[in-house]
Amino acid sequence: MAIQYLALTTLIVLYSLMFIGGYISAAGLGLTCPEWPLCPNGVFPSEEYLVEWVHRTTAATTGVLVIATMIASFINKNADLKIKITSSLATVLVITQITLGALVIDTKLHAVLVAIHLGIGIWLFAMVCLTVLFAFRIKDRKS
Ligand code: HEM
Repeated sequence: MAIQYLALTTLIVLYSLMFIGGYISAAGLGLTCPEWPLCPNGVFPSEEYLVEWVHRTTAATTGVLVIATMIASFINKNADLKIKITSSLATVLVITQITLGALVIDTKLHAVLVAIHLGIGIWLFAMVCLTVLFAFRIKDRKS
């Protein structure tokens, strides 16, 4: 898959994840699934934990996509240093964010941790945005 579309897909999935996170927070659903990484009923979704389950599954998907984009940026011969830096920073941030998600649950939504969770999400979004921009510039240089 071309790096441009991989990066763009990552951005779209990440945006959806942040949207779902905002919904969980505003609807007060943060502790409906009190365990980590899985909800009490295991890997499959259930009505009881559906929104939390979607947030976690989308987070795992985002993690895979962010790492895949970084690998693609290192493999691509035309990729410059800038995209390698932004995609690597995105990888560090996504791993931090998923770990922090566990702490948010563990501390029963400690306000400071929830705020940091939002703050890192914004940095992650910025890095993935830049990665998309740099990925489409690779295409520009080739044509
Ligand atoms: C790439 C990974 C992730 C991103 C980008 C992300 C993003 C977000 C965002 C933007 C919010 C809304 C915060 C707010 O409005 O204050 C949120 C809420 C939340 N996230 Fe995540 N999240 C990720 C992974 C996880 C994981 C792995 C977990 C737990 C296993 C988790 C647990 C939560 C919880 C419990 C809330 C709701 C907090 C509350 O009720 O106030 N997140 N997330």
